[in-house]
Amino acid sequence: MHPLLNTAVKAARKAGTIINRASMDLDLLHVTSKGHADFVTEVDKACEQAIIDTLSHAYPDHGFLGEESGKSGNAKAEYTWIIDPLDGTTNFIHGFPQYAVSIGCLHDGQITQAVIYDPSRNDLFTATRGRGAFLNDRRLRVSKRSRLQDSLIGTGFPFRNLEKLDRYLEIFRKINARTAGMRRPGAAALDLAYVAAGRFDGFWEYGLKPWDLAAGSLLVIEAGGLICDDEGKPDYMASGNVVCGAPKIQPQLLRMVQGLDPLPESLDV
Ligand code: IPD
Ligand code: CA
Ligand code: CA
Repeated sequence: MHPLLNTAVKAARKAGTIINRASMDLDLLHVTSKGHADFVTEVDKACEQAIIDTLSHAYPDHGFLGEESGKSGNAKAEYTWIIDPLDGTTNFIHGFPQYAVSIGCLHDGQITQAVIYDPSRNDLFTATRGRGAFLNDRRLRVSKRSRLQDSLIGTGFPFRNLEKLDRYLEIFRKINARTAGMRRPGAAALDLAYVAAGRFDGFWEYGLKPWDLAAGSLLVIEAGGLICDDEGKPDYMASGNVVCGAPKIQPQLLRMVQGLDPLPESLDV
């Protein structure tokens, strides 16, 4: 394992221990609101601190971008870690076991290392650019499905930016009618990991943040998937609008997200 990845795994496992311990007594959680449907707990903050402490101890000259603490460390660093200490906080608060720690490393404008750790299942998703994606010790490949009608599609609702909701629901209605099913598990980093693992054939969501996308995007790419923004361009990190999936499904999903009909061949045998 690449030394950077090894350290990131260590950091993610530390955060996972904090999360698992807190999940045993959710009544003790202190929840505050950062905005409409945007919650934070002391667990999010403690995890972020533990991750940054672990990484900065090993790499004192690196930079950090964390959801809870913003930018820290070396502002001119060659390596910047992008951290979501607890993705799926709303699930976590409710004891709904679908949440994860997400850590990506940015180097030369590209995410080069990725860890997504699901502490309730002890599932560790990792990737190093050019070296493939893994779930625990198993190599991951995106799904081989080719027909939309057989596909399971993940998504996230635009629950904060309600302006986007009407447009989203229109697209949702069409995709729902053309696919085998849609799911909204509630932790975007894991949704991306599930695309990499072939559990989802495709996924799309608007308005995600860099820490939701950093690690998961590399997992998708290293598992052989396609990922772009809702205009088909590569800069999904800037807008946070993302459409990804297996090579035969993602282009069809993108067409539908753009309000077009899927190509006929994706619907037949
Ligand atoms: C949220 C989750 C959710 C997505 C939201 C994110 P958080 O992250 O990933 O699935 O729909 O947009 O903000 O706030 O739980 O870290
Ligand atoms: Ca998140
Ligand atoms: Ca979070």
